Order: sequence, then C-alpha cells, then structure tokens
Amino acid sequence: MDVARRLSHLEWPFFEDSHRVLGEAISAWSHRFTSGLFDEIENIDLACRNIVRELGEAGWLKYASAGRAFGAKHDGLEVRSISLIRENLAYAHELADFAFAMQGLGSAPITLFGNERQKARYLPGVIRGSLIPAFALSEPEAGSDAAALATEARPEGEFYILNGLKTWISNGGLADFYVVFARLPGTQGSKGICALIVEAETPGLEIVERIHVTAPHPLATIAFRGCAVPREQLIGEEGEGFKIAMKTLDAFRISVAAAAVGFARRALDESLDRVTKRKVFGLTLAELQLTQSKLAHMASLVDAAALLTYRAAWMKDCGKRTTKEAALAKWFATEAAQRVVDEAVQLWGGLGVRRGNVVETLYRAVRPLRIYEGTSEIQQLIIAREILKTFLSPSDG
Ligand code: CAA
Repeated sequence: MDVARRLSHLEWPFFEDSHRVLGEAISAWSHRFTSGLFDEIENIDLACRNIVRELGEAGWLKYASAGRAFGAKHDGLEVRSISLIRENLAYAHELADFAFAMQGLGSAPITLFGNERQKARYLPGVIRGSLIPAFALSEPEAGSDAAALATEARPEGEFYILNGLKTWISNGGLADFYVVFARLPGTQGSKGICALIVEAETPGLEIVERIHVTAPHPLATIAFRGCAVPREQLIGEEGEGFKIAMKTLDAFRISVAAAAVGFARRALDESLDRVTKRKVFGLTLAELQLTQSKLAHMASLVDAAALLTYRAAWMKDCGKRTTKEAALAKWFATEAAQRVVDEAVQLWGGLGVRRGNVVETLYRAVRPLRIYEGTSEIQQLIIAREILKTFLSPSDG
C-alpha cells in the first residue's frame, strides 16, 4: 500500500513536526500486525496481554497516559499523539488498537484526577505494559444513561463497600485493576457518584460472565458483593465521579474517531488493491464509473472524518473544552467508517463476506464503534445540546 498517500494528512496544520515523526514511526511499527487475523487468535486474553507488553516495550504506551515523572511522554494527555497511534494500529489490527486504547481509557481517570500516590502506584505499570486497567461505568440498566448507575459505594470505617453489577467492561477478566463508578447511598442522578480504583484480586469482585462480540476482545460482566475498597482508592472527591467519567470520555471519544479513520483507510486501500486487479467485462473494476463513484464517496468520507477527528484533537491539545467537537468527530467518523467498510465489502463481492477476508474482519471490527463510549444517538444529543446552549447563551460558548 502507498504509505506516503496514507500519511499525507500529517501535512495538515493541526500537526507539529513531532507528530509527523510519530505518525511515520507508528505506521512503520504497526505494519507487523497487518497480516494477523483476529479469528485465528485462540487465547484472546493472552494475545491482549502480549500486545500490551509489546506496546509497552516499544514505548507507545508512554503516549496513552500522562506524567513524565511516571514514565509518560508528556505531562498532559496529548490527544493528537493518541489519535495518530490509534489510527495506525487500527489500520493494522483491531486488537492492537483495542489494547492501546484501553491502557489509556482505563487509566485516564487516574491520569486526569488521581493524587500523586495513586499515579505513582498505577501509572508506571500501565505505561510499561505490565499493568492492565479497565474503565467500569456501564451497568445492565445504565448504558447510555450513565447517571442512572446503581452500583453502591457505602462508606464504612476506612472502606467503601461496593455492591452492584457492571457490564460491557472491556478488559473485564483480564485487568489488574478497575476504575469503578459507584454512588453513595441515598443519592440520585449525576450527583453522589464516586470513582474508585479496585484491584482485581479484591475479595467480593467476581467475573460472572465473559461476553463474546463481533470483533473478539476481553469483555465481561462483573459483580461486586460486599467488596471492601480502602478509602484511599477514591479518585478526586466524593461526588465527582460523573464529571471524571465525562471528562475521560471527552478525551477518548476523539481517539475512537481516529480508530474509525484507521479502519476506513484500510478498507479504502484494500478496495483500491482489489479494483485495480479484478477484471470484469474485459475491464478492471477501477475503469467502471460506478466503481469510481464508490471510490470518490469512500475517499470523501475518510477525509471528512479525519478532518473532524484531528480538529477536535488539536483543540483538546490547545486546552479548549471539546465536548461538542469530540462528539461530532466520534459520531461522524464511526458512521463514515461503517459506510466505507460496507462499500469495500461490496467492491470485493463474494470474497468480501468470506470469513477471514480483511474487509470481512473490518466489517465486524467497525460495528461496535458506533455503540461503545457513547452511541451515535448520544453523540447527536450532545452535539445538539451544545449548539443550543451556545445559541441561547452566546457568552457561554
Ligand atoms: N465535561 C464536564 N462535565 C460534564 C460533561 C463533560 N463532558 N458532561 C456533563 N457534565 C456535567 C454537567 O455539567 C452537569 O454538572 P452540574 O450538575 O454541576 O451542572 C453534570 O455533569 C450532569 O450533566 P448532564 O445533566 O448533562 O447529565 P445527563 O445525565 O443528562 O447525561 C450524557 C449526559 C452526555 C447523555 C451522558 O449520560 C453520557 O455521556 N452517556 C453516554 C455514556 C457512555 O458513553 N457510556 C459508555 C461507557 S464507557 C465504554 O464504552 C468504554 C468501553 O468499554 C470501551
């Protein structure tokens, strides 16, 4: 594939020279995963742990977290770097992107709001790739409506006693620690929610179900039954949990958009390869105008998705609030990637739906992105709310 064409967006003004160097380096490094198919992985936990270790050894996890004192590259989360890494890993292999993303998302509440003791205990291992984190927000009755979560954190002496059920937890069953969002007794809605670091071996934490999805990765339902968590494991203040979760998602939703761009670019490249070789009616597919129409559609979607993604990442790195821009990027890029991958399957014809073909695996890999870390519908709601807020109170914008 033409690497120079695939990386031409590095010339955009959203990037600095350090990002251009990073983009080329991660593109070259992640090439090692390009031929791997996730269906061939027998032990997904082991594969994930190995990838995390490899990412750590190669130094990529220094970008997933923050704090130079703890081994990170920067003192704050650098969303352009995270996004460039995710885009290139997603281009190569869904599981490599997943492993990198979860090191970042799972540890971000500590990176952004943890105290020095918590950072010193967890971040170095996350950055080296020896500790695996998880972000435990969703519950059976609290997915899109995150503020409806019911898991309880009851203060008792030097502990919080956790009771409740978390589900759809990425890295569930594999993680060394979980950042769990739970509410103080007698509170409702977004108020009274706490973020607690719960180590996997804590008695009362039990993996009750492993969940299998279209693109295999570690995913589980976790029960907390009288699970005693020391008070020093509270991140930030009591009641700050909802904002901690939302601010974490503001940063990482942009990187979900970047992963979508990576999947879409791969689908476009696989399509170009196919249509320039496949002959029909004495012509290559590429010579047919209907094919050209599809290619134009795919290329436009890829560029528009990348522009929204890196605009949001650049704004975030400039210290601006990006609730709307992150939602715009996540919504548009994941929907666009779905359409691009679908067109790729169409161009590949029968082979496009054959188990194990790259575009078939992309088809399964891209679908969850429109659901996790806030569905497309939630992103639209956030975008509309932010626009209306600015319209009704222009000075707040
Ligand atoms: N940054 C800072 N503060 C924020 C915020 C943000 N982005 N969004 C909301 N808040 C604050 C509000 O200002 C408000 O504070 P005050 O009460 O002090 O005014 C408070 O939080 C409550 O806000 P809302 O009234 O807007 O809350 P809401 O209940 O209406 O919900 C929502 C808002 C945006 C729909 C939210 O529920 C949401 O994002 N839902 C989607 C949840 C989600 O993404 N789940 C995915 C789980 S994680 C995952 O998928 C990871 C994985 O495994 C891969």
